[in-house]
Amino acid sequence: MLPDLKVSVGPLKLKNPVVLASGTFSPELGRYFRPARVGGVVTKSVTLEPRAGNLPPRLVETTAGVINSIGLENPGLKIFCREYLPWLQKQKTTRIVSIAGETAKEFKQIASVLDRKKGIDALELNISCPNIAKGGLTIGVSGTATKEVVRKVRRATRRPLIVKLSPNVTDIVKIARSAVAGGADIISLVNTFRALAVNWRTGQPLLGNVTGGLSGPAIKPMALWLVARVAQAVEVPVMGIGGIMTAEDVLEFMAVGARAVQIGTATLVDPAAPVKIVKDLEKLLAREKIRSITKR
Ligand SMILES: Cc1cc2nc3c(=O)[nH]c(=O)nc-3n(C[C@H](O)[C@H](O)[C@H](O)COP(=O)(O)O)c2cc1C
Repeated sequence: MLPDLKVSVGPLKLKNPVVLASGTFSPELGRYFRPARVGGVVTKSVTLEPRAGNLPPRLVETTAGVINSIGLENPGLKIFCREYLPWLQKQKTTRIVSIAGETAKEFKQIASVLDRKKGIDALELNISCPNIAKGGLTIGVSGTATKEVVRKVRRATRRPLIVKLSPNVTDIVKIARSAVAGGADIISLVNTFRALAVNWRTGQPLLGNVTGGLSGPAIKPMALWLVARVAQAVEVPVMGIGGIMTAEDVLEFMAVGARAVQIGTATLVDPAAPVKIVKDLEKLLAREKIRSITKR
């Protein structure tokens, strides 16, 4: 018999702990696997108005990772609801919409519109994007601003709220506690680490936006440490994110307290990676004679 991979993450019941992270997942990935195979999907962060994103180049490969400075390119809330949401609503998995406002008011406006739509299981508040001038990290580095945003969104929707944290802060536990005080049901972490790539001959940065955010295996040990700290400090469940490439990586994050994980850069390397990780989890637990991923 296959091991049971079901997990509960606060109000969310996932068929397995593997969720596709925001910004690295799009409907085109459906050519490589059925989203129903994974525990959940998080959409690219949606903003109130369309965003063209940052100047190219916007992605640079580094040792064991990538630095991106996409800058939240997305068609905006209206087109998202018209063209993307109908696809999302049909998916037989946990459907999470990532939202990003420049201000608390904008976050609230987006949440109120989405509250009236069907087929969304949770919202993830991206207060941690390192690649935009307003919103993102300008909120996520401050406990007060974090609490204010979460509280405003909490009043605008009954949906479960996931708050996604940045590692680019001095005290991540303080920010996590502020998010919980504002009404977060779940904390997810981490977003990317601020980073730079440069051409030594010209002295020029390789990204159009100069800086970007590092993701991939390079960040895994740092993400693991931050997840462990936050999981111990807050009473709400935590989703671990950062450099997860294998089934073993998933179990490591769960061993330090994550209830589920999100996978980003791995899908840039192999679009079918998330489903491979689910299958490997089943094989690994079966080999170890573990019946349920939550009872080890
Ligand atoms: C190309 C790219 C685009 C991303 N866009 C978003 C985004 O729109 N919203 C967000 O919350 N995180 C975004 N992220 C961050 C990922 O969701 C994830 O937190 C981060 O990459 C760390 O996980 P990983 O090492 O598995 O990629 C993006 C990451 C990449 C590589």
